[in-house]
Order: sequence, then C-alpha cells, then structure tokens
Amino acid sequence: MSKAIAHRPVLLKETLAALEPGPGKRIVDATFGGGGHTEALLAAGAQVIALDKDPEALARGRERFAGEPRLTLVEADFRDLERVLADLGVPQVDGILADLGVSSYHLDDPERGFSYRFEGPLDMRLGRQGATAAEVVNTLSEEELREILYRYGEEPRARRIARAIVAARPLRTTTELAEVVRKAVGYRRAGHPARKTFQALRIYVNDELGALRALLRASERVLAPGGRLAVISFHSLEDREVKRFLKESPVLAPLTKKPVVPGPEEVAENPRARSAKLRLGVRP
Ligand SMILES: C[S@@+](CC[C@H](N)C(=O)[O-])C[C@H]1O[C@@H](n2cnc3c(N)ncnc32)[C@H](O)[C@@H]1O
Repeated sequence: MSKAIAHRPVLLKETLAALEPGPGKRIVDATFGGGGHTEALLAAGAQVIALDKDPEALARGRERFAGEPRLTLVEADFRDLERVLADLGVPQVDGILADLGVSSYHLDDPERGFSYRFEGPLDMRLGRQGATAAEVVNTLSEEELREILYRYGEEPRARRIARAIVAARPLRTTTELAEVVRKAVGYRRAGHPARKTFQALRIYVNDELGALRALLRASERVLAPGGRLAVISFHSLEDREVKRFLKESPVLAPLTKKPVVPGPEEVAENPRARSAKLRLGVRP
C-alpha cells in the first residue's frame, strides 16, 4: 500500500480566485480528500466546513489539521449538505467547493479496488455503506451491466463486455475484471481497455451523479447572497450536469461562460489535472 502518496489540489489558484476566501468568510469544502484545497482556504483566513464520506480521508485530516479552530471536519456524503449545516447550526455559507471523484489516495491504494493497475478486492466504495463493485458485477443481469457500462462509462462495447463479465463470474479482484474486459475487447490505442468499465462501476457504486445533483440543488438553498459555487469535474457526464444546472437554476447564475481549465504548466506537473474543468456559479 502506498499510503504516503500525496494528492495535489487541482486548479487551486483558479478556485481561490473564484471563492474569494478571507477572514469572516465561511466556505464548505464538500470533498476534503487530501485537504489541499482546505489548507489554502484556511491560509487565506476563511472558516472551512469540510466533508468527506471516506473515513480514511477524515482520519488523515484530523491528524493533519489537529487544533485548527477554523476547520470543522465532518464524515458525510455531500448529498446531505443541508442537514450537515443544520446540525452545525449554520444557516448559510459564502462558498461551496466540490472537487469531484476519487483522490490519488484511492487510486494508489490497491485495497480500495479503484485501479485496474493493481491487484485488489473489487470494492470501489468511497464510504462505508452500499454494495461493492464485486456485488454489482456478480449479481446484476447482463442487461443491467450493459446499461451501467454504456451510461456511466460511455463504453461503446458495453454489450460485449457485459456478456464476458457474466460468463466469467464470480469475479473477485480488480485485475480479474480488467483481464476479462481486455480479452473481450482487445487492446486499444487510447488508454487501458478497462478504463471506461472501471469508471462506470465506480460512478454506479457511489451513485456519483445522484449525489452531485443533490449537492447542486442544496447549493441553491444554503449559499448566502453573493455566495459562490465552484465545481471541478473530471469527465463529461459530471460537467454536463453542472453546466445544465447553472443554466437552468432559478437561484444561481454562471460566473463564466466557459469552464476554467488548467494551463499547460499544471498539466505537465500533474497529469491528473488534464481532464479537469472548473465551473463557477454565483447567487446574485
Ligand atoms: C478529488 S478528491 C478531493 C481532493 C481535495 N480537493 C484535495 O485537494 O486534496 C475527492 C474526494 O471527495 C470524496 N467524495 C466523493 N464523493 C463524495 C460524496 N458524495 N460525499 C462526500 N465526499 C465525497 C472522495 O472520498 C475524495 O476524498
């Protein structure tokens, strides 16, 4: 296990410029992760309420920020943001940041089962609850699996892969699944053949799009006038959700027409930033 690996915050400068953190400002970091964005928000003088549904991320954070009076760390799904704030007695906040998906800690820890590169149990759960990826691939019907791969992975060979998965059951490990996919579709020039399958299962296991929609709706109710929303997404399904929300919201307006993307320097230093898109909204 490579627990020492660090997670680099993506689009940090751009996020800070948009959220304008400072003394007296209260900002929600809905995806605490390695705490990179939170650290910068605190350094700018803001109060931060940080959420993560991953107990391991929280445990690292509690140690790293021990004794920091301006930080409140909460183990929670960001879909429950309104309830979390109500429990803390906080009616409104000045900013909300969501840096979606998984962190380097998840991808680099074989035990969490997110990576097709390392042998590990097929888990993929960010939190403590719900069905694992193993339960999903071993129990759903071929048609249900096809639908998941097509919808959440935008995998054109979803049918062939779903059929191969069902024929190879039971599957227990990440590399077993990756090999089944590779055999079903062969090698491709662009990336690993199982990349889209793993993305699809991860999104399904964690209901990532459902949680995002709930967070966006909550932002309409908990942002104070002038408050800002910053969402960093890493694939088109998420970005589409945020774009449409900002266009249609009766409460929030987009702050920029186009998404903010990282410059070539950031991409060269941090390949994970390559597909990042930051969308910004404001409650006028
Ligand atoms: C990309 S990382 C965030 C990295 C962080 N901004 C940093 O600079 O270190 C995303 C984090 O969000 C968490 N996460 C994903 N979906 C979540 C949800 N629905 N509720 C709460 N946390 C979630 C993951 O567990 C992960 O730690």
